[in-house]
Amino acid sequence: MENFTFYSPTYFVFGRETENEAGKYVKRFGGSKVLIHYGGSSAKKSGLLDRVEASLKNEGLEYVMLGGVKPNPRSELVYEGIELCRKEGVDFILAVGGGSVIDSSKAIAAGTVYDGDFWDFYCGKLIEEALPVGTILTIAAAGSEGSANSVITKEEGMFKRGSHGDAIRPKFSILNPELTQTLPPYQTASGITDIMAHLYERYLTNTKDVEVTDRLIEALLLTMKHEGPRVIADPNCYEARANIMWAGMVAHNNTCGVGRSQDWNSHAIEHELSALYDCPHGAGLAVTMPAVFKYQMGHDVMRFAKVAVRVWGCQMDFDHPEVTALEGIEAFQNFLISLGMPKNFAELGAKEEDIPKLAHVLCHGDGRNGTISGFVTFNEEDCTKIYKMMV
Ligand code: NZQ
Ligand code: ZN
Repeated sequence: MENFTFYSPTYFVFGRETENEAGKYVKRFGGSKVLIHYGGSSAKKSGLLDRVEASLKNEGLEYVMLGGVKPNPRSELVYEGIELCRKEGVDFILAVGGGSVIDSSKAIAAGTVYDGDFWDFYCGKLIEEALPVGTILTIAAAGSEGSANSVITKEEGMFKRGSHGDAIRPKFSILNPELTQTLPPYQTASGITDIMAHLYERYLTNTKDVEVTDRLIEALLLTMKHEGPRVIADPNCYEARANIMWAGMVAHNNTCGVGRSQDWNSHAIEHELSALYDCPHGAGLAVTMPAVFKYQMGHDVMRFAKVAVRVWGCQMDFDHPEVTALEGIEAFQNFLISLGMPKNFAELGAKEEDIPKLAHVLCHGDGRNGTISGFVTFNEEDCTKIYKMMV
């Protein structure tokens, strides 16, 4: 196991009707003037925003509102949010929504207290200071409610890039599984895929003997394998929603990733797809992961065989471990397809003729130096081949 530090200071409030306590927690974590940041229409339609406003009023908190965060959130609204926070003297940001709303909130939080362009943080600069952020999560997926990361798309060039820093870990996150019951099935399945991707990205490691985190990841993958079909069959199943919601947090606050190298190439390759086609990130991952895994399987075939046996119930073929490894990748892909996820470019809405552009922006666009590195290092030619495998 490698040396590590792990700082995960978020206060989690989990369960039914917990959104009504939002005001209490904003106050506890020092907020007096709040920006309520939200997305398109779902939080308004469900009445969630009204309940959150009432909770803030109950605590005598002042607030301003900024909605309109799009999935795969854009830089333009971040600039607007930064300006609003400075003008209004906002000292706390409350994100009401999914990963996109939370990531936009984190970007505004970092940008408001920074002299330069907030985009610097999305080109490699560490975030060391930010306004405090709290979240009320409405979709189990990105794990941003517990993570030190944010992903934003810059309109100019459509670069989708990530930032990180413990300063943007939420001060508190309210997780009420009931709030996820209004999700369309495709979004639910995209979320499940993203959660499983966060587990695989950590499972694919070059660090030896990391059995604790290996086993934690396998347990979470098994949970998703059990709960995924249950929630697709019965979207109102509270218990399945609850297990998925907590798994989504644990999968990405790095509990399962400490002390080991991680992959993240599937995410980098996918981010170009959701930037260009505006598809849900999880749906993009459903198409990306099987191709990436097959392409890099030979790097450590036993690792793929291990997850195939322990999670997907494959029989170990000791003479031909590559057969077991491949069976595991196919079982995973078939599982995602059974949830309603796409299996290729056409089903995702991606176009083969865009591959040269996708691979080029991925390896040479903003913040990149010709390669992407994780479990293995890929150059533009590797990425081109991988995108072609998805067609
Ligand atoms: O905008 P509204 O109307 O709310 O609709 C949203 C949106 O269309 C809808 N939705 C959310 N909760 C709902 C609901 N609809 C009905 N009922 C509800 N309860 O779902 C759609 C997707 O929302 P979004 O926030 O985009 O989903 P998700 O949580 O999957 O976030 C995706 C973003 O997170 C980034 C992705 O790249 C993508 O940009 N990621 C962020 C990470 C992080 N910060 O740590 C890590 C991830 O790997 C990921 O890259
Ligand atoms: Zn993800």
